[in-house]
Amino acid sequence: TDLLVIAVDGPAAAGKGTLARRLAAELGLPYLDTGLLYRAVGRRLLDAGADPADAAAATEQAQALTAADLSRGDLRGPAADMAASAVAAIPAVRAALLDWQRDFGRRHGAVLDGRDIGTVVFPEAPVKLFVSASPEERARRRWLEMRGRGQAAKLAQVEAELRARDAQDSARSVAPLKPAEDACWLDTTALDAEAAFQAALSLVRARL
Ligand code: C5P
Repeated sequence: TDLLVIAVDGPAAAGKGTLARRLAAELGLPYLDTGLLYRAVGRRLLDAGADPADAAAATEQAQALTAADLSRGDLRGPAADMAASAVAAIPAVRAALLDWQRDFGRRHGAVLDGRDIGTVVFPEAPVKLFVSASPEERARRRWLEMRGRGQAAKLAQVEAELRARDAQDSARSVAPLKPAEDACWLDTTALDAEAAFQAALSLVRARL
């Protein structure tokens, strides 16, 4: 296929979303935040009063997911973060979301951000970025983002939750968070959003 798919993976709050969205706009490609799918499944479970780690309940909710679930306003925040990570460790949940992601990318090409885009969803993607930053810097960014949304939070607690989620995402047996062997690493610790975008664009252009 001649479709351009760009995979953007990395740990939580590394700046993947901002970067992927800008790359998509620059290259004229659709953008998909795949974390939103897991967040929406987690939210459906919380709403149903079920445990996000309950495999049968989570699978049922993943199969019932609709487009409207993805535009809900309550998909961000500590409870949604951890619920997303819990459902994301369940193989049948991942299987239910896989075709959806592949269909999205295969229609017109796409920039997708997540944890397993370059390793599982589109292992044949011609461009794969693994975006990271130090845990301290990622916690600081997430904390600022939460404050901007009016969510009160303590920096130390934000960092602890971020580390716990990364550990859970990296340790799961199905599609763990890890760089694809052929991924380009981009460490954004010392980069602002503009510098990170320019660096990513250079990496992408070098691969096309
Ligand atoms: O990217 P975001 O932080 O919104 O993702 C929320 C959670 O969804 C992650 O912590 C991870 O457990 C899960 N996820 C995943 N695979 C993806 C995207 C997200 O497992 N491709």
